[in-house]
Amino acid sequence: MNHLDPARHVRGESQYLDDIPVQHGTLYAAVVESAVAHGQLLRLDVAAALEQPGVVHILTAQDIPGENQIGGIVPDEPLLAEGHVHFRGQPVALVLAESEHAAQAALRHVRVEVAPLPVLVDPRQAAAQGELIVPPRTFRLGDAEAAWAGCAHVFEGVAESGGQEHLYIETQGAYAFPTEMGGVRIISSTQGPTAVQRHTARVLGVGMHQVEVDVTRLGGGFGGKEDQATPWGALAALGAFVARRPVKLVLDRMADMRMTGKRHPYSSDFKIGLDENLTIVAYEATFFQNAGAAADLSPAVLERTLFHATNTYFIPNVTATAYSCRTNLPPNTAFRGFGVPQGMFVIESAIACAAERLGVAASEIQRRNLLREGDLFPYRQPTEGCHAEQAWDTAAALYDLPGLRREVEEFNAAHRLQKKGLAVMPICFGISFTKTAMNQARALVHIYTDGSVGVSTGAVEMGQGVNTKIAQVAARTLGISVGRIKVESTNTTRVANTSPSAASATADLNGKATELACRALRERLLRLAATELQLDYEGLHIEDEQVLAAGKPADTNWEKLVSAAYWQRISLSENAHYATPDLHFNPETNQGYPFAYHVYGTALTTVRVDCLRGTYEVEAVRIAHDFGQSLNPAVDRGQIEGGAVQGIGWMTLEELVYNEEGRLLSNSLNSYKIPDLYSAPKVLDVHFLDTPGHPRAVLRSKAVGEPPLMYGIGTYFALRDAIRAFRPDTPLPFSAPMTPEKVLLNLYPDAPSTLHAWTSPAQLNSVTTSVDC
Ligand code: MTE
Ligand code: HPA
Ligand code: MOS
Repeated sequence: MNHLDPARHVRGESQYLDDIPVQHGTLYAAVVESAVAHGQLLRLDVAAALEQPGVVHILTAQDIPGENQIGGIVPDEPLLAEGHVHFRGQPVALVLAESEHAAQAALRHVRVEVAPLPVLVDPRQAAAQGELIVPPRTFRLGDAEAAWAGCAHVFEGVAESGGQEHLYIETQGAYAFPTEMGGVRIISSTQGPTAVQRHTARVLGVGMHQVEVDVTRLGGGFGGKEDQATPWGALAALGAFVARRPVKLVLDRMADMRMTGKRHPYSSDFKIGLDENLTIVAYEATFFQNAGAAADLSPAVLERTLFHATNTYFIPNVTATAYSCRTNLPPNTAFRGFGVPQGMFVIESAIACAAERLGVAASEIQRRNLLREGDLFPYRQPTEGCHAEQAWDTAAALYDLPGLRREVEEFNAAHRLQKKGLAVMPICFGISFTKTAMNQARALVHIYTDGSVGVSTGAVEMGQGVNTKIAQVAARTLGISVGRIKVESTNTTRVANTSPSAASATADLNGKATELACRALRERLLRLAATELQLDYEGLHIEDEQVLAAGKPADTNWEKLVSAAYWQRISLSENAHYATPDLHFNPETNQGYPFAYHVYGTALTTVRVDCLRGTYEVEAVRIAHDFGQSLNPAVDRGQIEGGAVQGIGWMTLEELVYNEEGRLLSNSLNSYKIPDLYSAPKVLDVHFLDTPGHPRAVLRSKAVGEPPLMYGIGTYFALRDAIRAFRPDTPLPFSAPMTPEKVLLNLYPDAPSTLHAWTSPAQLNSVTTSVDC
């Protein structure tokens, strides 16, 4: 079965926020933002702007009837700046006007006077000044400190990874309508309708019941709308609340890039110890996360980095420490992988460092240290149904890893100015929100008297295909065709207190709730059939809309049964609640059982570098992935392809550049390059591993959204491999993204110093540690 939406998408029929017919009387909002990254707000003068044609209202912090606070984890983020500004692009005021043009034109007439304060952009510098969002966290297994002495080899180094712009096709926005009872209805492009509802209620000073949030679909979220859709929803709602008119607020692309947070850049130290057999004995990592100016989701992202600091390897002695550092960048936020890619980049750097120094292939070290059944993660959860070795060995055999290596070596021997590189990237990703309480969901299922079905859940469709999967779960559980099912918009009035659609767990949580609701309805209908037809309930099933008794057609079908139930006054609606069983985690000891299960896989990546120009091509990414019993192979394959390419973009082309004043220089698609058809891998193979899935996965179909992003990390190490084939003895810093510029500079380390004098302002991090690689 295909994804339900694409035909409507390509015909332009799907409704996004900006397609909603505009209601008469609508006001358009434009955001006045800080042009200074840090400073004291001296004066905010809106008088001249209010005189501009079409301008109706200009709202500042003083106009907020409730609390000026939208911080999700830590209450440290005002909706509109008050007293100080903490990043460039921070909302300071909201212009409401009769047209979009009038609202935009009024912006330059607002006078914002700021006394500048020192600007921090470097996380290590922030940490040195004690600018931490939350106290540091350390995950420990065994005793790394005691283990170094017994290691045959110990290597230390530094690894830097950059941020990443989400670049959802649909920018952030919301459309808010005042409602009769002094409330507000918001149509929002959000992954977290309840977050928008909760924070809007707080800002307006009303109960959550006065705020209804509705989401039809997003033109992509990728984590960027888990928390950061909230300000736009709350601002539009504030406008509607004060003006008593509908208010529409949609950011244009450059405003979105400037004002919203991104993937967290990390600067990290590593130390790795191995015995003579290349077994990793000890690992130590220290992560400096660039959180930006407010907490947002940074503490949760930081924690997930620690959970995955050892990727898919068993290491008996681990100390991993992480600092969430407050800087004057826009608050960084969730982005596919949620801190895991950053953590994996560091352990893969440590392994590459050891391999390069020891003169062995990194894959020798990687393969030898893969997780096995029953191994403990540093947070003490054991692997159960571990497919790390199966994924590796299947990929290596299916795609002929030794043959690929031979091919690369032969090519490199035969070519002076073209070099190929190869890397293996195994992954392991824990499924569940790391905050145990968030692992709950509800489904509201109505069967209408004609046998058609409406399903409401907390799941938000953002392209990932969750609505398709939920329709499949309902159809399969009820024994009817998918054509009878409609997955409704996500609405806080129909399904309350939802977790955001995130953590790759949306289909599991909402799909399981849907399954429970549909099972209850099926049971109710079949009990009625048993009574009416005097049949044994235990032998009854519904298949292809026909009721079967002990495998044979009985004298009723779906439509008749539904109709009979109505006339017997039996409820055709069900509301079910699902909470992932068995989860627990103690954030004091950092131990417990936080994940429902883990997802495994392995990617083989080959690249070719033009050693004259520094340009490169990703020749092939070949993946063996653990889907379990895939509910929808077409959707799941799409997730792997999209995720892998997005990861390649992060590791290669996508370079966020901020200057020392905290100004985003790569602020449009002219200066920020994402992968296109030409930079995507020429070959992208996906093999579905033969694995049983997990009972905590919906119908044993494992979560798939985020894990594939991490396959992109292989491209970084394949490029490094190619560069080393050209310059075997040159030390190369572990610094991502590996842009063509960086490749060129790495290929010619003795080029004129003028060339090297150019350093990207993104690489401002003050690294002082002594390094081996
Ligand atoms: N795929 C598409 N097409 N668009 C998206 O915005 N978001 C990703 C992933 N795949 C995303 C996507 C992220 S960050 C997550 S957490 C998951 O989808 C969320 O959906 P799921 O829980 O249903 O996998
Ligand atoms: N993953 C993704 N999003 C989240 C998480 C998580 O573990 N926790 C809170 N939001
Ligand atoms: Mo995804 S980063 O959990 O929205």
